[in-house]
Amino acid sequence: MTQLSAAPTPQRKPSDGSKALYGGKSNRRITVRDIAAAKERGEKWPMLTAYDAMTASVFDEAGIPVMLVGDSAGNCHLGYETTVPVTLDEMTMLSAAVVRGTSRALIVGDLPFGSYQEGPVQALRSATRLVKEAGVGAVKLEGGERSHEQIRLLVESGIPVMAHIGLTPQSVNAMGYRVQGRGEEAAQQLLRDAKAVQDAGAFAVVLELVPAELAAEVTRTLHIPTVGIGAGPETDAQVLVWTDMLGLTGGRMPKFVKQYADLRQVIGGAAKAFAEDVVGGTFPQEEHSVH
Ligand code: KIV
Repeated sequence: MTQLSAAPTPQRKPSDGSKALYGGKSNRRITVRDIAAAKERGEKWPMLTAYDAMTASVFDEAGIPVMLVGDSAGNCHLGYETTVPVTLDEMTMLSAAVVRGTSRALIVGDLPFGSYQEGPVQALRSATRLVKEAGVGAVKLEGGERSHEQIRLLVESGIPVMAHIGLTPQSVNAMGYRVQGRGEEAAQQLLRDAKAVQDAGAFAVVLELVPAELAAEVTRTLHIPTVGIGAGPETDAQVLVWTDMLGLTGGRMPKFVKQYADLRQVIGGAAKAFAEDVVGGTFPQEEHSVH
């Protein structure tokens, strides 16, 4: 394990639960200040992706406090093979829909590949579109040390930023989909990335596909919350792609996905039942008809 000294584990403050991000009493829109307070309380919280107003409204009613309009929309919603082709116009349109479908969740809009890599000014221009046109409360971008200047300018400009380190799918052509942070050197780099995004002002950081022990160490070291996906149980929050966790995405799932429903089966079954009713002449019936 690495030699970086960890901050002392934060004391859990006694709480009646009324301020909890999940299950709390407040109905107003959650902000990044609420996220910081949750870390101080030692509270764990869930985050799901969302790409449309209707699904987002279901998650909002279920009390999911943070929704990410992820560029995973590329594979899970728009039919691309990776997240790489997703455009800022597409992210703006999807983010606006999710904002319209929700009243409580903090909505985080993902900056797609090519919309911030040129530098801080390009990042600010792109993030401003997501904030002004779509109404998101925060943006997310990939990269640790390499993105710290972008994060700093966005935060100084009043745009909260969620960082994303470990496996960064926008770099799939360079890094593939492999576990990150294995081995001493890679672990030290991940810790440096985590510190860099915190120092630049990020309010939270996604840790994707990193060893559980390393994610735990990052979580103890940082004062901002960590959001794990394939990063073990010790992160402050957990995120899953909604189409994976509800069984709508076809094909093999990564090991870290827990499937809570089988929507592919449910929707496919319903579509077949409808088709058979139509072909067999049993739909529509009298109760579905007007005269
Ligand atoms: O785009 C996305 O959905 C993400 C999550 C997997 C964190 O970046």
